[in-house]
Amino acid sequence: MLVREFGGTDSPAFKENVDSSWTKLKAPIEKKIILNDVAAMSAMRKACIPEQAALFDSFSSSTRNTRRWAQATAINVITSDLPAEQTMATVEVNLQSLTRDFGAYIAISQLFGKDFLDRYPALLEDFWKFDNDLFPLLVTGIPSWAPFKTIKYGMAARTRPIHELEALNRRIIQYQHGQPVEFDADMSDISEAALDRSKIYKRDGWSFTERAAADLAILWGQNANTQPVLFWFLAYVFSTPACVFETYLMVNEPTSIRLATRFVTVSDGDLKHELKPGMFISVPHSLINHDLSRFLHPDPDSGKLLARYGKLKPWSSGVGMCKGRPWAEKETLCLGAAIISLWDIEPTNGTWKLPAMMPGTAVKKPVEDIPVLIKRRTW
Ligand code: HEM
Repeated sequence: MLVREFGGTDSPAFKENVDSSWTKLKAPIEKKIILNDVAAMSAMRKACIPEQAALFDSFSSSTRNTRRWAQATAINVITSDLPAEQTMATVEVNLQSLTRDFGAYIAISQLFGKDFLDRYPALLEDFWKFDNDLFPLLVTGIPSWAPFKTIKYGMAARTRPIHELEALNRRIIQYQHGQPVEFDADMSDISEAALDRSKIYKRDGWSFTERAAADLAILWGQNANTQPVLFWFLAYVFSTPACVFETYLMVNEPTSIRLATRFVTVSDGDLKHELKPGMFISVPHSLINHDLSRFLHPDPDSGKLLARYGKLKPWSSGVGMCKGRPWAEKETLCLGAAIISLWDIEPTNGTWKLPAMMPGTAVKKPVEDIPVLIKRRTW
């Protein structure tokens, strides 16, 4: 995947580097950001989510005045004939674009710092183009040189973040060695995880291009599924309302892909499947994930139904199960709760109609956006 999807060099040297360093490179992310509740919660606290959520909508239709996350959504400020003190500003936006970019801005700045996002304003647009348009085609085996527009523009949208991540990795090294940092960039909020990974890259002899491909993989893993979940969570809470488990039930569709390294026999009712070394096995958990009984369990004392993970598998299962789960959960709940408590959101045409879904990588995506009216709650 690092070569096909994320632009790593297709060479024996890169493969050797990945084989020897990958576990070491995952450790700083897992220990310092995502793997346990305390680390994930501390990352959320540092992100100042309530303060950021207060700026979720910037009430401006001028690109120059909008926040970075609001730039992909068309913003229409609804004016009123009433005097300003008698009316609350309302804006019309596309909920998916706004939510997804808001979540990604907060997530990426926790990992690579705000300067990275501010120095590369097209990052979010490029990232979603790469994820939505190019990624699925490359997964199905279409070569990156195929003469289609989608591939051409998708590849350009992948190349730009790779170059920017390469430049960021150079700045990290300058910062770590006490040298003047290019552009005098602010490196003060770059995560410890990114700094620790940089030391491993250097020690293990990774080139800057290789570092960038591996960092793009992390950036993708952190955002590609988390932000669509945040969007669906908000859409369900405002329209239905629903809880986060119902959201997972409706939209998560994880698949485990495993490589057999020895002969294995898998029993399947009356059937037996013989797996030979070198075979890939794909386990689409979503096929059996869409049933309320998977997460609603009667409380033994009160008999009331309680929401618990139970048999619900939104993060896949087994040893390769998503390591970012504690972090993704906290991001969805913290950002979701902050937005819900600060903003009133209703559909532009007065009736909620959720869009149809199409497959994503581990979370379904909406086929179209939802235009909504947003205004600040008053207390
Ligand atoms: C709603 C959000 C997310 C979903 C649905 C999701 C889903 C998945 C799935 C299905 C896998 C593959 C599991 C398997 O092979 O059995 C996976 C792996 C992984 N995910 Fe996530 N993920 C999410 C968010 C995150 C976040 C925020 C991070 C943090 C950077 C992350 C980091 C990882 C890592 C490191 C692995 C590889 C685990 C391993 O190979 O040991 N994920 N994720």
